[in-house]
Amino acid sequence: MNVILFGPPGVGKGTQGGRLAEAFGLQQVATGDLLRSEVKAGSALGREAKSYMDAGGLVPDAVVVGMIESRLGAGSGLLLDGFPRNVAQAEALASMLASHNERLDRVIFMDADHDQLVQRLSGRRICRDCGRGYHVAFQPPKVEGVCDQCGGALYQRDDDSEQVITRRLAVYEQQTAPLIAYYQEQPAFRRVDGGASLEAVYDALCRAMEE
Ligand code: AP5
Repeated sequence: MNVILFGPPGVGKGTQGGRLAEAFGLQQVATGDLLRSEVKAGSALGREAKSYMDAGGLVPDAVVVGMIESRLGAGSGLLLDGFPRNVAQAEALASMLASHNERLDRVIFMDADHDQLVQRLSGRRICRDCGRGYHVAFQPPKVEGVCDQCGGALYQRDDDSEQVITRRLAVYEQQTAPLIAYYQEQPAFRRVDGGASLEAVYDALCRAMEE
C-alpha cells in the first residue's frame, strides 16, 4: 500500500502517522522530520532548507521530490506524511509512482478547526533524543519536560512560535489546500475528522485504511 496523509499543520499527521504505519506495516516518510534531521546534521541540504522552514514557507520542490524519489521502489509500502504539499509535488509523485509501476491506495485528508490547530501547535513538545511528540495539555509527559519513553529533554520546535504558526497556516491554505480538489475525485480519497480525540481519530483512520 502507498498512502498519503495530508492536512494542515497540527492536525495530527505525525502523531497518527507513526501508529498507523506500524499497524499497517508501512514505512512512514515524514518530509518535515527528514528535513529537520538534515538541519540538525548541518548538511548542505539542511542549510538550504532551514531558512524556508524557520519562515514557515515551503522548501523548494526539487529538494523534497528528490528525498521521496530515493525512497520509492524499496519494496515496502510508504505512508507519506507532509508530502505532497502542493499540486506540483502531487504531479511529481504521480509520475514517480508510475515509473515504479506503483499507485496510491489511499489519500487521507485530515482537517480540524483553525483554533484547535493553533492550540495544538503552540502546546506541542518533542523529545530531543527519540523524537516522540507530546502536548502540554492533551498528551502530557508523566514528568514535565521529560520524555516518558527515553528520559530525553522535551523542546518546542522553532516553527511552533505564534508568528510562524500563522504563516504556516496561511501557506497551507494557499499551497496545500488545493490538493483537496486535486485528489477528491479519485477512488483512493478519504476524509477524516482530525478534530476529534486522539483515539477517535485513530479509529477513523483505521476504518479509512480498511474500507
Ligand atoms: P512538517 O513537520 O511536515 O510540519 P506540518 O505539516 O506543519 O505539520 P506538523 O508536524 O506541524 O503537524 P502534524 O499534523 O504532524 O501534527 P502533530 O501530529 O505533531 O513540516 C515542517 C516544515 O518543513 C514546513 O513548514 C516546510 O518548511 C518543510 N516541509 C515539510 N514537508 C515539505 C514539503 N513536502 N515541501 C516543502 N516543504 C516541506 O500534532 C500536533 C500536536 O497536537 C501534538 O502536540 C499532538 O500531541 C497534538 N495532537 C495531535 N492530535 C491530537 C488530537 N486528536 N487531540 C489532541 N491533541 C492532538
